[in-house]
Amino acid sequence: MGHQILDGKALSRNIKDEIAAEVAEWVGQGHRPPHLAAVLVGQDGASRTYVDHKVKSCAQVGFDSTLIEREADITQDALLDIVASLNENPEIDGFIVQLPLPDHIDDQAVIEAISPRKDVDGFHPSNMGNLALGLPGFVPATPAGIMTMLERTGVETQGKHAVVIGRSSIVGTPMSLLLSRSDKPGNCTVTLCHSRTQDLAAHCRRADILVAAVGRPGMVTADMVKEGAIVIDVGITRVADDTAKRGFRLKGDVDFTAVADKCSWITPVPGGVGPMTIVSLLRNTLTAAQRSEEFA
Ligand code: GUN
Repeated sequence: MGHQILDGKALSRNIKDEIAAEVAEWVGQGHRPPHLAAVLVGQDGASRTYVDHKVKSCAQVGFDSTLIEREADITQDALLDIVASLNENPEIDGFIVQLPLPDHIDDQAVIEAISPRKDVDGFHPSNMGNLALGLPGFVPATPAGIMTMLERTGVETQGKHAVVIGRSSIVGTPMSLLLSRSDKPGNCTVTLCHSRTQDLAAHCRRADILVAAVGRPGMVTADMVKEGAIVIDVGITRVADDTAKRGFRLKGDVDFTAVADKCSWITPVPGGVGPMTIVSLLRNTLTAAQRSEEFA
């Protein structure tokens, strides 16, 4: 079967153009530009790359951005002070604390300190709870980006069987909620698979939509995919490669070469889900700016 590439890179460029036009209109009405802050703790190379992309993307759509960098030995209290000052700062519409944090810091305590109104990552229990209840709130950027990709394929999702592999708070859990909720896209029957699932392959073979969010390169093999399925690969593991400029390559959870021909649609890695995550964060930040106006 001939597959089509779900080109997140191209789609994200189009959506960035749409957001930039909305920002221009917003600023034209006399508002200051939306302003995103990002907090980066420590020296993790992947985290730095993600945050750099987020900050760079702000400039592309006309947002202001602030990057706050701290050493890995920052105390939890000092980090909570930064969160409190961002919560109170009227010039900041939304902010993120890049995860993972160093071991001595309790991620959950930091997430819960973020004002839900500025929580553009959608990780606060209040936003997660709203998502579970189908109420408005900020939706985590990676699953939101995947829903946008599904929407733009134009494929009907209603009544389809979606299988999500991985139950993380950032991707798998919110993804399963979004696919199951009564919305368009949505209304799927959802199976959430994880490390304790028995016969993972049998579940996956029943998927019309298969989302892999585990972080184990190549784990989804051709025998696990139904003919005509839509396959979404969230994995972006760094794999050593001496021939690559930076000494590594990004590898997805899906064995793309073997799987692609069985799919109707498939996301590449890189250039699939990653760029969509960033535009969803930008979208959330614009929403935060427009909402904070309502409270001003
Ligand atoms: N670490 C991996 N993905 C994310 C994300 O979307 N937001 C934050 N803050 N940290 C992450």
